[in-house]
Amino acid sequence: MSRILIAGNWKMHLNVSQASILVHRLQERIKTHRDVEVALFPSMLAMQPLSMQIDRRKFRLGAQDGHFKDEGAYTGEVSISMLRELVHYVLVGHSERRHIFGESDETIGHKVAAAVRNDISPILCVGETKDERSSKLTSQILHNQVTAGLKNVTSREIKHIVIAYEPVWAIGTGDIAKPDQIASAVATIRSNVAHLYGVAPSKRIRVLYGGSVNADVARAYLEIDGVDGVLVGGASLNYHSFSSIVGSAYRLTRER
Ligand code: PGA
Repeated sequence: MSRILIAGNWKMHLNVSQASILVHRLQERIKTHRDVEVALFPSMLAMQPLSMQIDRRKFRLGAQDGHFKDEGAYTGEVSISMLRELVHYVLVGHSERRHIFGESDETIGHKVAAAVRNDISPILCVGETKDERSSKLTSQILHNQVTAGLKNVTSREIKHIVIAYEPVWAIGTGDIAKPDQIASAVATIRSNVAHLYGVAPSKRIRVLYGGSVNADVARAYLEIDGVDGVLVGGASLNYHSFSSIVGSAYRLTRER
């Protein structure tokens, strides 16, 4: 059984002092747990101060994005290589990056490779839009995004990758995906991985669910077959909801 991963994507919220207050509160409520891993994804600006503040037995840090080139004339960017030793994870291909910033599958493939090259685990985000789902294109979209995202990953490296299934229509909308929709999408993702790397890696790879996860539904999502954790946006900004999501994971591991 993999460790459950509870990831909090703060997006473009919380300045440095607000981020520090949230960590302080979470630190009081969240304990160290052998089977549950908690990762926080603050803004780039808060990364360095939080890396000094966090209790590393309780939390891991992750970046929300990064540039795949190690350095160069790319005004405004922070490279994934600059995040080395500072973060454990980096989100790659989040739907907001794909849809608002026009990130292509090719760029996403380069970012996944840059993360692996720098000893950072990429969390490759994939998911269909509402229109794609109603046109019955979900499996095709997942196949395309998984294949392109993993294009530069070798079979030795696949164990470092995490995949997050995040249906675009459920992100930040309060639209709750049904457990059977998630189970079938996660099965599709694992079968794509099996096709590319074999059955054993497809079972071992961690797959998260993300999209309007809150304290009320987290438990039901964590119980879905094949789901190893959740990627939480809005609800991760509130210490009460985020720590109760982590609490659901603790209870689940106790009952297993
Ligand atoms: P949400 O965001 O929980 O606010 O829907 C999830 C995400 O974007 O990762």
